[in-house]
Amino acid sequence: MNVCVIGAGYVGLTTAAVLSDIGHHVTCIDQDIKKIASLQNGYIPIFEPDLEDCVQKNKSRLRFTDDLPSCINHAEIIIMAVGTPSLPDGSTNLSFLYKAMIDVMEHLASYKIIMIKSTVPPGTNAAILQLLKDKGYQRDLFDLVSNPEFLREGSALHDMKFPDRIVYGLAKENEDLLGQMKELYRGIDAPVIVTNYAGAELIKYASNAFLAAKISFINEIARFCEQFGADVTHVAKGIGLDARIGPSFLQAGIGYGGSCFPKDLKSLSFTAKDNGLQPLILDAVQSVNASQMNIYFEKIRAMFQDLSSMKIAVLGIAFKPNTDDIRESPAVAFIKKLHEYGCTVSAYDPKASLPEELRMIVQTETPEDAMLDADLTVVATDWKQFIGLDWKQARIKMKGRSVLDARNCLDPDIIRAADLNYIGVGRI
Ligand code: UDX
Repeated sequence: MNVCVIGAGYVGLTTAAVLSDIGHHVTCIDQDIKKIASLQNGYIPIFEPDLEDCVQKNKSRLRFTDDLPSCINHAEIIIMAVGTPSLPDGSTNLSFLYKAMIDVMEHLASYKIIMIKSTVPPGTNAAILQLLKDKGYQRDLFDLVSNPEFLREGSALHDMKFPDRIVYGLAKENEDLLGQMKELYRGIDAPVIVTNYAGAELIKYASNAFLAAKISFINEIARFCEQFGADVTHVAKGIGLDARIGPSFLQAGIGYGGSCFPKDLKSLSFTAKDNGLQPLILDAVQSVNASQMNIYFEKIRAMFQDLSSMKIAVLGIAFKPNTDDIRESPAVAFIKKLHEYGCTVSAYDPKASLPEELRMIVQTETPEDAMLDADLTVVATDWKQFIGLDWKQARIKMKGRSVLDARNCLDPDIIRAADLNYIGVGRI
């Protein structure tokens, strides 16, 4: 099939790369000319495992361009993967999507399937369909399918090739359309859910909200664990073995971040309130998350009298391992707060860099350099590299003896065997 993917962000690039790997001819479009130029030269602007190899391997079938009109009419399927960021009030900025939709429609000369992959609040696909009708675009020129993605950064290619489910939201039942979808995702074996637009939109939001709720739930339980002298990893294991609960997303830490959970929870909560509903659970999930990092910051304040004379090493800048993404990163928020309180911070991350506003903070080339003379080491992102560090060496490098495992990823016994004090999240 000929496919056109609009938007060369991480969803668009992953989608384009995997579809070309399946054997389709894919054109990926972005209005950012610089980004397109570097993609044409084989440079991938984000770090995502295996993405560069996949793009390279399929370069005969995968093209990057900023020329929308010529690509639209070569394609049978147009996939919208443009960004839908948050506005200051928590609502979703749909202007890029609307603009891209109109651009597409303006150039449409023959029937196309238009799939919306961008995450959009409930009601958006129906509103877009209505808008296109109101603008007089012929209804027989296109079909609109909501096809949300569930890709995790750091394992996006794997998640696209081996999804837990594929969701289609349709305006009405349409077997031909579903047949085309099957061809698009040929070779990808997953349960298929067919529902209406709002159903598809809500599956996406409810999934992210539920996962975020699991994290905030275990973080709240971690607070109880600290109070009553329990280990939250034991509690997580104990509840996770119940098949109805499941073991994943129960790792306590300094909270969730990234480009999806914070934005999607705010957006769903905003949309609910805007429609006269009370998002009680969603708001609680967000409020636990907002206070989680602070609890551990206060713990550090209580440990040291004067933070301004302290040197703290922070291992991890990215919002999670295997990505260079720092959007809404709890690690960055932690570093920022320590800096604001006058701490000398030295940070290390295998892939991510400190944001522009924190460039005055030293970012070291190795974790060992960051820990040199540190009064405290904080592990703020659970990169595998940190688990395997030589903590005995770290003890020699550090001035102080404490390690705050703000992601509960270290083995306390190993840390203690290195003559260091282990402080975890809800651990004894
Ligand atoms: C998420 C969803 O998982 C994905 O399906 C959706 O398409 C996009 O949003 P992503 O943002 O890449 O993916 O990261 P994810 O792996 O879900 O982690 C999100 C945050 O939660 C990270 O900050 C991570 O450190 C944190 N987390 C995750 C925890 O604190 N504890 C856990 O047990 C799991």
